[in-house]
Amino acid sequence: MAKKGRILSGMQPTGIGKLHLGSLLGALSNWVEMQDDYECFYVIVDLHSLTSEYADTSKTKQNIREVLLDWLSVGLDPEKSTLFVQSQVPEHAFLHLLLSMITPLPWLERVPTYKGKIQELEGKRDLTTYGFLGYPLLQSADILIYKADTVPVGEDQLPHLELCREIARRFNHFYGEVFPLPQAKLTKAPKVLGTDGRKMGKSYENCIYIADPPDVLSRKVNSMFTDPEKIRLSDPGHPDTCVVYSYHQIYSEKKIKEIHSLCTSGKLGCVECKKSLSEKLISSLGDIQKRRQELEGKPERLEEILAEGARKARRVAKETLEEVKEAMKI
Ligand code: TRP
Repeated sequence: MAKKGRILSGMQPTGIGKLHLGSLLGALSNWVEMQDDYECFYVIVDLHSLTSEYADTSKTKQNIREVLLDWLSVGLDPEKSTLFVQSQVPEHAFLHLLLSMITPLPWLERVPTYKGKIQELEGKRDLTTYGFLGYPLLQSADILIYKADTVPVGEDQLPHLELCREIARRFNHFYGEVFPLPQAKLTKAPKVLGTDGRKMGKSYENCIYIADPPDVLSRKVNSMFTDPEKIRLSDPGHPDTCVVYSYHQIYSEKKIKEIHSLCTSGKLGCVECKKSLSEKLISSLGDIQKRRQELEGKPERLEEILAEGARKARRVAKETLEEVKEAMKI
């Protein structure tokens, strides 16, 4: 079957700690789904991590492994997609350098994430570096070196995609049509609420982690906010303001109408409703956890996947770089 196009997306091997449901359902599930329709390149961007975490690099290798384990356990498949580490494909860095020659500084300075992140990390990291300013340009190189036409990202990445398109346009203008202009593909993420009803986020301590064992999952589901007006089983509930219901919308799709009507008509109590959600989560995450455990015992297999991924990625990247050099007459 002809593929719809070429996808590239990336994830940093930092600040991950543990994968939570928000990131699973927000980004990774979409990546998994696109594997059959697109030619997919998924890259662990360790060089991007260096732009802010340059002072302590002791955990980089371990973090790369954790990201790969997460990817594989949720269903990214090295037979279908190219999974690799950015620093193992030096063409990214070469293209970044060449693109830097045609990138006006103000284009980088006005990217909103630049000042934003500097402020966010003020006092913690010195981000007044050359490398950090170049963060979105390195990202542009990641995308353009594969001539990817589609880039699945969250909304926060749109300014980076815009810069990438401007750079591609400028390159093509100077040296001839080499790069297609890539499109962002916003992930239509279901909104995943934290157990307290706010957005799920590590700093709120309201996350459900992919690695949570059954007893922790049940405890977290039991602590979820429900409709405060539903006190007794027979009270009519308001599912649309209920955290538990928002999860059923994701995990009990087939039964969702039934749950809605049983809740609003006072025939389904919160205790039972939570119990069925716990069971769903335990089984769905259990599968992922099992796969992760199996893979954790096979470090050589992980190395092999990344080596093969880098080989496949390099084949394409080298070709683009040759074309770029020729266009630039170097
Ligand atoms: N900046 C992206 C993020 O923080 C990670 C990233 C690096 C990326 N290179 C990329 C995403 C290329 C998409 C395409 O999420």
